[in-house]
Amino acid sequence: MTGDVGGELDLGGLRRVYGTRGHRLFYTLVCRRARHWGWTEPGQSKWRCWRAQRQLEAVLGRKLALPPDSRVLDAGCGSGVVARRLAARLGLRVTGVDLMDFHVREARRLSTRAALEDRTTFTWGDFHDLEYADGSFDGVYAMETLCHAYDPGRALAEFHRLLRPGGRLVLLGPAAVPRAEMPAPQRALLEPFLDAMVLPGARHYTTRTLGALVTGAGFRLEEELDATRYYLPTTEALYAYFRLPYAVLRRFGAAERWLGLRSTVEMYELRHHVAWMVHTAVKDG
Ligand SMILES: C[S@@+](CC[C@H](N)C(=O)[O-])C[C@H]1O[C@@H](n2cnc3c(N)ncnc32)[C@H](O)[C@@H]1O
Repeated sequence: MTGDVGGELDLGGLRRVYGTRGHRLFYTLVCRRARHWGWTEPGQSKWRCWRAQRQLEAVLGRKLALPPDSRVLDAGCGSGVVARRLAARLGLRVTGVDLMDFHVREARRLSTRAALEDRTTFTWGDFHDLEYADGSFDGVYAMETLCHAYDPGRALAEFHRLLRPGGRLVLLGPAAVPRAEMPAPQRALLEPFLDAMVLPGARHYTTRTLGALVTGAGFRLEEELDATRYYLPTTEALYAYFRLPYAVLRRFGAAERWLGLRSTVEMYELRHHVAWMVHTAVKDG
């Protein structure tokens, strides 16, 4: 599924996903406001999901490999958990953009509370089309957001424009295997899941084609890492925690309001057909 690029922004759909009370409660209480998966090293307990989230943020920091005070764009920042972490731990100056006004407000409030408002800025914006000048950033990252892109090639071209020569890009997130390699039951599960979660990007690319999309936008690919084995422990733990609560909600017809729970269950059921990828790329000067 690499063809038909150039969809349209589905702001209403994204508001339905991220604005639903159940989804917001899930992210606030279960994920402590981070809206991303986790990274577990071999030998570590899979049950410590919050530690895994912090470790994933640390992996991102290492792949960015930028010195303190570098200007970095967080494309799809959510409530700014990742931005604050990189600002606090690495001294980066992070600009977060997000389409959800309530995420932007929450990110600003939490940064003020953490006394990080001088290193983190949050703005409403669509990462396909931002108003910053060419070469404004030393680094760009997308933590589990390119899958939401209605035109991933265009978003990557925008990231390329926004980076200075020598600037670094890190993309982290899931990609499905080519549909032809997916058994029918999993394919039947995947497509409605992508619709419900508004993940058109995940239709445009697969594990095999995302790297070419990155180079097609002008980047030199430094590393294409299939990191699934580091993500799987989180997938297994979340499934074990939420399988039963989700089954009950489903039975009472409330599943649509609890998309966070749905994703914990369905990502497990798709676990052999979705890879978690980390792409690191450079805009050569
Ligand atoms: C899975 S969440 C990840 C949030 C954050 N990166 C984190 O790890 O906590 C995806 C985020 O991307 C945002 N998003 C989706 N499409 C976007 C776009 N075109 N421009 C800006 N933000 C977008 C959503 O509003 C949501 O906050």
